[in-house]
Amino acid sequence: MKKAEEMQIIKASEIARDTVEMVLRNRYISQHAAPGQFLHIHVEGHTLRRPISIADVNHEEETVTILFKIVGSGTRQLAANRPGMSINALGPNGNGFPVLAQPGKTVLLAGGGIGVPPLYYLGKTLKSNGVKLISILGFQSKVDIFYEKEFSQLGTTFIVTDDGSYGGKGFVTDVLDDTGLFELYYSCGPGPMLQAMTEKLKGKPGYISLEERMGCGVGTCLACVIPASNGDGYKKICKDGPVFHAGEVSL
Ligand code: FES
Repeated sequence: MKKAEEMQIIKASEIARDTVEMVLRNRYISQHAAPGQFLHIHVEGHTLRRPISIADVNHEEETVTILFKIVGSGTRQLAANRPGMSINALGPNGNGFPVLAQPGKTVLLAGGGIGVPPLYYLGKTLKSNGVKLISILGFQSKVDIFYEKEFSQLGTTFIVTDDGSYGGKGFVTDVLDDTGLFELYYSCGPGPMLQAMTEKLKGKPGYISLEERMGCGVGTCLACVIPASNGDGYKKICKDGPVFHAGEVSL
């Protein structure tokens, strides 16, 4: 059983509409975090912890970066924490993205909204292994966009917005015909987006990361189960996931 860790807030800033980036210092978590894993964060006055994916790690500084959207009282309360304060987190939790591709291979990263952050640490890790990257990032509107520059530094990056206020108008899947060839894909975002991605890329190897409300975050409460696609019971998103093979679970 993981023990809860205190994480000191080094930096906190709103980098897009209602979107907060926080840099947190903790030796254990920074040295053990893998791409696609998440922190289960305690919020003052709330019983349930909030699962928030890891967006970046700096081993030398012993920091972990998280990004979250203010969507309710829990995340609003979390956003009110300032540098110098500490938050309590369980982590790193879950099974992250397998870092599979060989040097010289091309990989597609496709993220929607607050599903974009975990792909950044994955992308950095893949790039440092010599993998070529293409990214498609989808947001609601121009004011919601973040990390465009960061992903552009990793490789060719396409931005789409639902309302067409920046980049292409439409969905992440609308760009799939324009990316050129890739051997493997990794995707994170809302359910309908992942459904469309796996449908359109059927037969291609890929991994998806699911966002879900969670209870315990460590596999004991069954609040996060999802049916396995082979009809063989259920998978726990918090423990078996949040990353699954495309086609492993029923979306
Ligand atoms: Fe409790 Fe997944 S959140 S089992």
